[in-house]
Amino acid sequence: MNSWTSAVEALRAALEGRFGAPPGTAIVLGSGQSEVAEMLAGGSPAVKVPSSDLPGIPGPSVEGHRGELIRPGEKDFLLVCGRLHLYEGHSAETCVRLVRALARWGVKNLVLTNASGSLRREYKPGQIVILDDHINLSGANPLEGKHVAGWGTRFPDMNWVYDLKLRKAARRAARRLAVRMKHGIYVQVRGPSYETPAEVKAFARLGGDVVGMSTAIEAIAARHLGMRVLGLSVVTNLAGGFGGKLSHDDVVARSKEMQPVLARLIEETLRVETLSPRPADRKRA
Ligand code: HPA
Repeated sequence: MNSWTSAVEALRAALEGRFGAPPGTAIVLGSGQSEVAEMLAGGSPAVKVPSSDLPGIPGPSVEGHRGELIRPGEKDFLLVCGRLHLYEGHSAETCVRLVRALARWGVKNLVLTNASGSLRREYKPGQIVILDDHINLSGANPLEGKHVAGWGTRFPDMNWVYDLKLRKAARRAARRLAVRMKHGIYVQVRGPSYETPAEVKAFARLGGDVVGMSTAIEAIAARHLGMRVLGLSVVTNLAGGFGGKLSHDDVVARSKEMQPVLARLIEETLRVETLSPRPADRKRA
């Protein structure tokens, strides 16, 4: 083992020690989305662990991110409130350490949520975007560095990063709940500055629909270790150049407003995914 794999293994052992057997799904909640955890946990008694109690996880430094893991007793998922970002000065390897530990623990499905800015007027604040793919413009890749045998392949295939069945389940769930939703391509930038109007135009030309400062590197690490990934992005604002002023406080406020919808969508998606499709849904999906 080298230093990054031993850091992941130490974290995996800590997860096992605190929570026991792995849940089927882990849900990583983005900016202003931590209360989705309580909404999804319902009244179920839960084991709560501050991420500062876990080895190798620096505390979050950003308003709107709480560092806590919650395992509701009667549900088959773990909620991760708060993530680490490149713009906080962390390496990609540190940012994805928890995702890797979840995979090594045995978690099969990973739901990644985030807040994003829209690169196109059709993607409106208040909509949820099911990620079909991403463009990683963060300048970082969590797989850089020494390849360790047994930890995924050196050159992993990035076709279908976002699991088709989970995407379809999310779409069916959104239809059932009448949630305003679109499919789209997520561009990950490094941040922390928001994008200039010229960058926004360029990203849209490249094929991006929404932009944010997380998720793609986590999805890469998760796929590398064989997890199935669902990405759900809450559009909080039109990105730079559409006329509005951008502030993190507004992003977090908008994201918070959307929490009940996001919680219902995740709950219904996980329910739909474990059911066989209804004939009417099968035709539309
Ligand atoms: N740009 C980058 N990240 C974001 C944005 C944005 O406009 N909104 C929310 N996260």
